[in-house]
Amino acid sequence: MANAFLSIEQLTQRYPDGNGGEFTVFENASFGIEKGEFVCILGHSGCGKSTIMNILAGLAEPTSGVVKMDGQHVSGPSLDRGVVFQNYSLLPWLTALKNVTFGVQARFPDWDKAKVIEHSTTFLAKVGLTGDAIHRKPSQLSGGMRQRVSIARAFANEPKLLLLDEPFGALDALTRGTIQDELIKVWSDTDQTVFMITHDIDEAILLADRILLMTNGPNAQVAESVEITIPRPRNRTDIVEHPNYYAIRNHLVHFLGQRSAELSGQSGGSGMHQPKTVRIDVTDEADDPEPAPVLRAVEG
Ligand SMILES: Nc1ncnc2c1ncn2[C@@H]1O[C@H](COP(=O)(O)OP(=O)(O)OP(=O)(O)O)[C@@H](O)[C@H]1O
Ligand SMILES: [Mg+2]
Repeated sequence: MANAFLSIEQLTQRYPDGNGGEFTVFENASFGIEKGEFVCILGHSGCGKSTIMNILAGLAEPTSGVVKMDGQHVSGPSLDRGVVFQNYSLLPWLTALKNVTFGVQARFPDWDKAKVIEHSTTFLAKVGLTGDAIHRKPSQLSGGMRQRVSIARAFANEPKLLLLDEPFGALDALTRGTIQDELIKVWSDTDQTVFMITHDIDEAILLADRILLMTNGPNAQVAESVEITIPRPRNRTDIVEHPNYYAIRNHLVHFLGQRSAELSGQSGGSGMHQPKTVRIDVTDEADDPEPAPVLRAVEG
């Protein structure tokens, strides 16, 4: 884990509790993310997901612990890390296109104007925004369109790490589905690494290579890392037919419904609190007297 692309080591966050004391959001959280991985994090409201993301983004300093990306300590924001917030956070006085070119110009200062525009337009097209729409200001776009601009803006900067905090929370189911598909398309076309917070179990199974599960706060911990043993490409209608789908889903529902509370507050003390790896693969346990080795899991 220490050699992972992104390495989170003994991260602890405490805040004042308002009564002269302090409370611990999480303590000694440690996990790694590999380059090109798509990792989702699930946990109840207030457990500290956004706090972890803000620390990864360099927008907040943890009480203790370190985050390393490519072996370098993360401190302060950087164009290497792109963030998409739930509330879009576009610059209201700029058009959709200019919201994208603004960052691209900063990221690639050697590029001439034509190249910046071409690159930005390509990324807007990848999320389905073309024609007149890209010359409109955020107030003249729908919520779904604004969210597409945010995603295009983040990807167009080609950050090494993309951090998404419930990016689809405010969208209707149909738009959400379309943008999820677009996000996966853009992610598979690039070698970017994605860390995404969501409250939606089905969204997490559809998108992630791995889901991190957090127990309830305070004193939350990243308790499990659940591998999504469903091959890609995945599509939302067929995925439910996969034999592993409901096995994984039930595990996640059970964790959030029961174990997140039972395990809560059991962290603390010193040492690394690494999540337990959970691999659910019912195709692996088939009652086959002579199982074909090719179907067997290679890694534990
Ligand atoms: N700047 C701060 N000062 C004091 N407490 C804070 C601060 N920021 C967050 N907290 C507290 O830390 C805890 C974790 O907050 P955080 O926003 O990370 O939760 P979350 O898991 O993202 O929740 P949600 O799912 O509702 O977005 C909460 O109890 C919150 O009140
Ligand atoms: Mg949050």
